[in-house]
Amino acid sequence: MFRYCLFNVLLLCAVSIFASKIVEGSQPILQRTIEALFKERTTKVYPGPCQVLRAAKRQTKMCDRDTGLSTVLATAKEQAITTCEETFQYDRWNCSLVFNRKAKRSIFNKIFRETAFIHALVAASITHSVAKACASGKLSSCSCVGRFGKNSTWKIAGCGDDFRHGKKVTKNFLDFKHAGNDQIAEILKQDIIVGIDTIGEQLKEVCKCHGFSGSCTTKTCWKRIGPFNSAMGLLKKHYHHAVKKKLLNYTTKRAITPKIRSKLRLDKKNLVYLQRTPNLCISTKGRICKDRHNCATLCCGRGHITGKKNVSSRCRCKMVNCCFVQCDTCVEEVDYFTCK
Ligand SMILES: *[C@@H]1O[C@H](CO)[C@@H](O)[C@H](O)[C@H]1NC(C)=O
Ligand SMILES: *[C@@H]1O[C@H](CO)[C@@H](O)[C@H](O)[C@H]1NC(C)=O
Ligand SMILES: *[C@@H]1O[C@H](CO)[C@@H](O)[C@H](O)[C@H]1NC(C)=O
Ligand SMILES: *[C@@H]1O[C@H](CO)[C@@H](O)[C@H](O)[C@H]1NC(C)=O
Repeated sequence: MFRYCLFNVLLLCAVSIFASKIVEGSQPILQRTIEALFKERTTKVYPGPCQVLRAAKRQTKMCDRDTGLSTVLATAKEQAITTCEETFQYDRWNCSLVFNRKAKRSIFNKIFRETAFIHALVAASITHSVAKACASGKLSSCSCVGRFGKNSTWKIAGCGDDFRHGKKVTKNFLDFKHAGNDQIAEILKQDIIVGIDTIGEQLKEVCKCHGFSGSCTTKTCWKRIGPFNSAMGLLKKHYHHAVKKKLLNYTTKRAITPKIRSKLRLDKKNLVYLQRTPNLCISTKGRICKDRHNCATLCCGRGHITGKKNVSSRCRCKMVNCCFVQCDTCVEEVDYFTCK
């Protein structure tokens, strides 16, 4: 980096410095929030009405206005982290916060493929949680609550999953409007939109018929979003198909015009990142792989060790006294594989 700076004009040097760190002094709420939610792996409670993070002023206001929001955010955080760890448990990157166990190599120092993915993931999870909370009546600010409240013939607590409200709350909470419109901000905003849209793509209309003996004289329909796991399937595809971009020779902090934006070629459909992920092979020693095929990639060709372990599970289940299921515990010896 130093040499690069010496041999280049000042402008280029400035670009490379900004590009090497997305954290620039006072970070926009957007970056700070995504990072805070994904980093905090405990259920720590922070002071203030939002509880899950050290909230900015506008976020505090939002949590004050709708007391259900803090629970929704806690659910969103939990869901993002556990789903990530489950989905990536057999991948070289397993949702860890640093690369290769090096404390200095935070995944938030630059915009790696993983950083882009996490922005999408956390935004998707907030959107999903808000939409679900609307359906179960846990959020008072949902747009559809009033509409259903007026209808006394059809009683559902709350309303259908409210994707549009989820999207709105997510963008508000991340303070999209003030995230900036420099190159870095444009990229992160794009990644977040890609994430939110994976929830929208899962939206389905479900209908229920009313009327005598199943005749469909009246029908009630509402929107339902899929389980978060299916959105995660899409998100993982986006992770694999993420597109690497280069910053233009243009200081990152400057607002970009539509012309520059078109040069950046953000196509709205893909996750975008800036820096290549370091080689993670040195950190997969000792990791558990799923099967021999998975070991081949996870262990980077070093091979694996096969061990045996006993796993217990419920078995020989049967009904007793009409309504209770009673099971035995069976122990089975199974193979497991770890990377050399
Ligand atoms: C209640 O909602 C259902 C479905 O939207 C509709 O068919 C019905 O007419 C409504 N009833 C009233 C009283 O508005
Ligand atoms: C970026 O560099 C290209 C050529 O390398 C030049 O044509 C263009 O004007 C530069 N843009 C800016 C904003 O400096
Ligand atoms: C992820 O992998 C690292 C090694 O790369 C390991 O130390 C860590 O325990 C793993 N985390 C999970 C949740 O499996
Ligand atoms: C599994 O349990 C059986 C019976 O209790 C025991 O003989 C065997 O050594 C155990 N295997 C392992 C890997 O612990």
